Amino acid sequence: MNQIVLIGFMGAGKTTVGNLLAEKMGCPQYDFDQLIVDKIGMSIAEYFDQYGDAAFRDIETAVLAEVDTLEGVLSTGGGIVLKDKNRTLLKKMPYVVYLKADLSELIQRVTHDEENVRPLADSKTPAEIEAIYRPRVPLYEESARIIIETTGKTPEEIVTEILKQVGE
Ligand code: S3P
Repeated sequence: MNQIVLIGFMGAGKTTVGNLLAEKMGCPQYDFDQLIVDKIGMSIAEYFDQYGDAAFRDIETAVLAEVDTLEGVLSTGGGIVLKDKNRTLLKKMPYVVYLKADLSELIQRVTHDEENVRPLADSKTPAEIEAIYRPRVPLYEESARIIIETTGKTPEEIVTEILKQVGE
């Protein structure tokens, strides 16, 4: 297999697992948030602040269309499944993996991540984060071919499971 796309909520480990997976597979990793930052020339938090959610989603769609045939591991942003157009593209990709985790663990990770400021989760209560999470779950599920339960597992264990599922 020459491309694996990781999807899932903020804090699901898409970047960390993606890094390790790419290392194990000996292929490049493309991190959507980084590709977007390179494109917009500012942080995602600043961009949300200046241009809002809808403009960010359009850039996310443009990046997905640009990378959809690239070989390697693609670590997407948590909101990639929000647009119909993106879900249609994802469904055509052979190895889309949903990294699923318990909401409590996601909240814990997102609210304790000082390196990565996420405008949608920053200064939000657990109930507010849950309100973003719930409607997204069916969208992740319908977009993925493979679902990996990650709660309580190390990145190494998750990578081993992904490789097993994709038959490597
Ligand atoms: C977002 C998730 C973030 C980033 C942006 C919006 C979302 O990526 O793209 O802050 O809507 O879930 P991560 O999932 O990598 O945190």
